[in-house]
Amino acid sequence: MQTWDGKQVWVVTRYEDGRAILADERFSVDPTVPGFPEKNIAYLNTIGQDRNIRTIDNPEHDRQKRMMIQDFTVKRVAEIRPAVQTLVDQLIDDMLEREAPVDLIEHLAIPVPTTVICELLGVPYSDRDFFGERAKALLAAPTAEAAKVAGAEMTEYVEHLIDLKIAKAGNDLVSRMVHQHVLPGTYARADLVSLCRLLLTAGHDTTTGMIGLSVLALLRHPDQLRELKESDDPAFVANCVEEFLRYLGTTHAGRRRVALTDVEVAGHTIHANEGVIVLNNVMDRDDAVFADPNRLDLHRTNTRVHTAFGYGIHQCPGQLLARMELHVVHSTLWKRVPTLTLAVPMQELHFFEDGSNYEVTTLPVTW
Ligand code: HEM
Repeated sequence: MQTWDGKQVWVVTRYEDGRAILADERFSVDPTVPGFPEKNIAYLNTIGQDRNIRTIDNPEHDRQKRMMIQDFTVKRVAEIRPAVQTLVDQLIDDMLEREAPVDLIEHLAIPVPTTVICELLGVPYSDRDFFGERAKALLAAPTAEAAKVAGAEMTEYVEHLIDLKIAKAGNDLVSRMVHQHVLPGTYARADLVSLCRLLLTAGHDTTTGMIGLSVLALLRHPDQLRELKESDDPAFVANCVEEFLRYLGTTHAGRRRVALTDVEVAGHTIHANEGVIVLNNVMDRDDAVFADPNRLDLHRTNTRVHTAFGYGIHQCPGQLLARMELHVVHSTLWKRVPTLTLAVPMQELHFFEDGSNYEVTTLPVTW
């Protein structure tokens, strides 16, 4: 395939080939390695160049990931869950008080992950519009200039946040990273800035996209939606969430890698410094693994082996959080608003296709 900047790269679509590459450390995520296939002009000028777990290889990757992982454990996610439940109930109350139609993206799909990322990082919720707009620009601004301006503002914001946490620690990731690693000298302040920029961008757009599209997918599959409405089984809801992740494939720009040496893949030689785009959304529709893969099947028994969160050492650390958020949304929304339906014909919906995450931009609903 030819990328936006004219590079010739390999595209990998088969499940086994893709997993083999993502688990193979002869493929690098480092954008400074010649041949690396960057996603777009915004990435090239901002977070693509940041040095953090997303853009470094081992052994440094694992060292840095271990430092932050305590904020993503089953225990920490369970701690955050009651607040997410309260929030979802509150957002649904607010929605029901409004006059329909209401945009479910603005009133549910955005605030849930945004609040969670604020809670996780110890960022005031009142700053959400500020960092939300910069995050969007970092992921997909159309020009280098716009991306750079947003990047500089995001950095200034994060530097200030770190100063606040140095002065007064809270129960959050930034405070822990500052006091356990930056101040003792095992982690550079510049690396923490870059990690925060990553978390403020990676952490909520992805989940927003998934909430919006999963609600839409259910509305388009009324028989399966009926089952979900009637179920009180948390394990069934959990399986539905896995199937949404597999079926919707929202991180559709692919996992980007560059070969560090010549590697054989499925009978082809990928040469050193050739770029590879592993399309995990297409891998999750591989019929060698998933029977009738283009069908949404909430009872699919092997759906959990999907690669929506990637595979290998760069697998998403936020996956338990994202699963929990989706679980709370789907076990609450349909019970509280069983008559929820689209307020406009399907053809009138707009989808955002140009960034890292595939999303429905607005979802007008009525009940
Ligand atoms: C439904 C929601 C989400 C999806 C589909 C998703 C998807 C992904 C994927 C596919 C990767 C792998 C990138 C690669 O291998 O090139 C990834 C990495 C990452 N995700 Fe997520 N993610 C989601 C939610 C979150 C959340 C909630 C957070 C944080 C709060 C988060 C933080 C990260 C970080 C920091 C990385 C980089 C990890 C590394 O390179 O070691 N993500 N995510």
